[in-house]
Amino acid sequence: MNRLTAIVLAAGEGKRMRSRQPKVLHPLCGRPLIAYPLRTAQALADRIVLVVGPNADGVVKLAPREARAVVQSERLGSGHAVLQAKPECAEGTILVLPGDMPLLSAETVERLVDHHRKSRAAATVLTAIVAEPQGYGRVLRQGGRVKRIVEDRDASDAEKKIAEINTSVYCFDSKRLWSALGKVRADNDQGEYYLTDVVGILCRAGARVDAIPVVDPAEAMGVNDRKQLAAVAVVQRRRILDRLMEAGVTIIDPASTYIEDTVTIGPDTTIQPQVVIEGQSVIGGECVIGTGCHVSSSRLADRVELKPYCVLTESVVDAAAILGPFCHLRPLSHVGSGAKIGNFVELKKSKIGRGSKVPHLSYVGDSTVGTQVNVGAGTITCNYDGVAKHETKIGDRAFIGTNTSLVAPITIGDGAYIAAGSTVTKDVPPGALAVGRAHQVVKEGWAARKAKTREEHRG
Ligand code: UD1
Ligand code: CA
Repeated sequence: MNRLTAIVLAAGEGKRMRSRQPKVLHPLCGRPLIAYPLRTAQALADRIVLVVGPNADGVVKLAPREARAVVQSERLGSGHAVLQAKPECAEGTILVLPGDMPLLSAETVERLVDHHRKSRAAATVLTAIVAEPQGYGRVLRQGGRVKRIVEDRDASDAEKKIAEINTSVYCFDSKRLWSALGKVRADNDQGEYYLTDVVGILCRAGARVDAIPVVDPAEAMGVNDRKQLAAVAVVQRRRILDRLMEAGVTIIDPASTYIEDTVTIGPDTTIQPQVVIEGQSVIGGECVIGTGCHVSSSRLADRVELKPYCVLTESVVDAAAILGPFCHLRPLSHVGSGAKIGNFVELKKSKIGRGSKVPHLSYVGDSTVGTQVNVGAGTITCNYDGVAKHETKIGDRAFIGTNTSLVAPITIGDGAYIAAGSTVTKDVPPGALAVGRAHQVVKEGWAARKAKTREEHRG
C-alpha cells in the first residue's frame, strides 16, 4: 500500500513577524495558524510528522495525539527541516505542508495527492499564478515541463517576471525525496538548505516533476509578516461568513462582521452590523444579534434577541430570552428562557430563572434567581465583603423593589416582597414583605414655618 505521510513545517523562526511567540501560534479567526494545515493533514494522511523549532512546546501541544513531532534544533532551511522528519516517515508518498498557508483547502491538497499518485511523477508541486509574485519562489519551465524553482532573492530580473509561484505544498515519492535532499547545497543568498532545490535535482536526474496550479490563487497566500496575516484574515473571514450565509444565516454587513471559525449559528438568525462572535460560541436559529454585540464562548438557544451593544462571555442564554441594549454577562451567567435582562445590567456567575426580569441598572453576582422574579431598577447584590464572595438566593415569583441592596449571604423566599430602597441583611421567608429602610417622617406646614424663621432672622 502507498502510505501518505504529511510533513507539516513549523520550525521557521518567523523573523518577519517581529514577535516573541512562534509565528504559527498567531491566531487567525480563532485558531492558531498551525491548526489549519494540521486539520488538512489529519483529514488526508495516514501519518503526520510535525517539524518544530526549539522551545516550541506550545506548537507541539496543538498537534493531534497520533502525530509525531521532531525538533529542528538549527534552522538551516526548509530542505533541512524536511530531512529532520525522515526517521518518522513511512515509505510511500510524502506530502509537505507549510505551517504558514492557512487558506489552503483540503480539497486542493487532495487533488494534488490524487494527481501525484495517478501520474507516478517523482514529485508534484502545487503552484499558483498570481498578479504579484514578489517574495515567492518562481517555477521555471522548459517546453512546458517544470525544470526547477528559483527563490525570489536568487532570481534574475527575467525570472522575477514569472507569475507562476511555488506554494510550498508538494508531493514526493519518498525514496526520490530522500536521495535528492542529500544532494541539496546551501549555495544561495541565505545560505540555507532549500527544499525547492529538490525539484531541480530530480529534473536533472531525469525524473519527472509535475506542477499543478491552484484554482483560487488566494489559497496560496502565505503569512510571513503581520500585513500578510491581516490580508489572509480578510479572505478567511469572508469564507466563514459565506459558509454561514449558505447555511441560512442573514448577515446584514459582512464587511463589519467578525465571526471566528469556531462558531456555529443556526438558520434564520440575523446578524446586525459590527458584531463580534468568537471562541466556542453556539448560536441557535431565529436569533437576532444586535449592532455592536460581542459574544465570546457563549451558548444561545433559539429565538434569543440581543439588542445592540451586549457583551457576553462564557455564558448561556435559553430560548427566547431578550437581552440589552447595553448589558454585560460575565462568565458563568445563565439566563433562563423568556427572561429579560435590560440596560446597564451586569450579571456574574448567576442563574436567572425562566421568565424573570432584571430590566435596568443592576448588578447580580454569585446569585440564583428563581422563575418569574422581578428585580427592580438599581438592585445590587452585595456579594463581596472585602474578603470573600457570598451567595444570594431569590425564590420564584419574588418581587425586589427598586434600589434594593441584598447583602449576601442571603435568601429571599418564594413570593416574598422587598420594599423599594431596602438594604436587606437578614433572610426573608416565603411570602413575607421586608422593609429595610428608615421610616419616612412627614412634617406638615414645615416650609411655611421655615420661611417665617428666616424673615425673623433678617428683621
Ligand atoms: C517558501 C519557499 C518559496 C515559496 C514560499 C510559499 C523555500 C526555500 N521557499 O518561501 O519557494 O514560494 O515558501 O509561501 O522553501 N521552515 C522550517 N525550518 C527552516 C526554514 C523554514 O521549518 O529552517 C518552514 C517554515 O516554518 C515554513 C516553511 O518552512 O512553514 C517555509 O519557510 P519560509 O521561511 O516561510 O519560506 P518562504 O520565504 O515563505
Ligand atoms: Ca512562508
